[in-house]
Amino acid sequence: GLTQTAKSLPARYFYDDRGSELFEQICELPEYYLTRTEMSILLQYAGEIAQNTSACELVELGSGSSTKTRILLDAYEHLNYPLRYLPIDVSAGILESSAKQLLAAYPSLQVHALASTYELALERLTPTELPSRMICFIGSTLGNLSPQECDVFFSQIQTALNVGEYLLLGIDLQKPKHLLEAAYNDSQGITAAFNLNVLDHLNRRFGGNFDTTQFAHWAFYNESQHQIEMHLRSLRSQTVQLRALDLTVEFETGETILTEISRKFDLNTMRQELSDRGLAPLQIWTDHSQWFGVLLCQLKSAD
Ligand code: TRP
Repeated sequence: GLTQTAKSLPARYFYDDRGSELFEQICELPEYYLTRTEMSILLQYAGEIAQNTSACELVELGSGSSTKTRILLDAYEHLNYPLRYLPIDVSAGILESSAKQLLAAYPSLQVHALASTYELALERLTPTELPSRMICFIGSTLGNLSPQECDVFFSQIQTALNVGEYLLLGIDLQKPKHLLEAAYNDSQGITAAFNLNVLDHLNRRFGGNFDTTQFAHWAFYNESQHQIEMHLRSLRSQTVQLRALDLTVEFETGETILTEISRKFDLNTMRQELSDRGLAPLQIWTDHSQWFGVLLCQLKSAD
């Protein structure tokens, strides 16, 4: 991405251990409505989700602190279903600490954690011992994938699931620009620190010499594409080296690196897209302002 004319970085580079800590802080910010809103939907409907799927293994992509997952685990536990959880995250630190906390909180829980990208983890899933499996992809991480990446992702999901198994999807919905822009430009500057941490991460991982004081956070809502675009803007012309990659990168003043997109969805369009892909939405829940959507989908047979 850094060698392209329009520079970009894969969003997973946000999530080293420090980035995952900062992201946990973002989730609690007053402006960042996403986590709270999704959590309220899960609190209200987790019982229905568990009843719909019956006993099943929960596989979570981008599990982070697993805070929202506890709501699901509580619902399955309440119905006396066996608890088996496969958290997948690129940040091994947060994966290990949250798995330990979960094991202490749920005595009957089995955890099999995978420190991995989604792509590799989905390829490596072995058949579950439980009657069924549900892949949880919540937090609107789907929105961080481009439409092309979404296509690949959904076909991987189809491969990873057996017919009749489930996908639980949480997506952020379209809403007025000022609400969206505030969520990605918080007043305490945590999102800015999170965005700049990408450069620290690259420095540590690839022997780089990015000077984070010479870049600035920049996020805005692109209304025609229905997506937040998050960049790091170079404050001057500068040259950066990444020793381990034998890479030299030149920046002009004002030039940016696209670090993330966060697409905002329309529920009806998503319902249709999922159906077209054989991932039929069984139930769709939202909050009273219709800010966020949670969809329970089931893989149908190909014919
Ligand atoms: N999935 C989250 C989202 O799209 C990720 C996220 C939230 C994020 N805030 C961020 C990523 C700030 C980068 C910077 O909302």
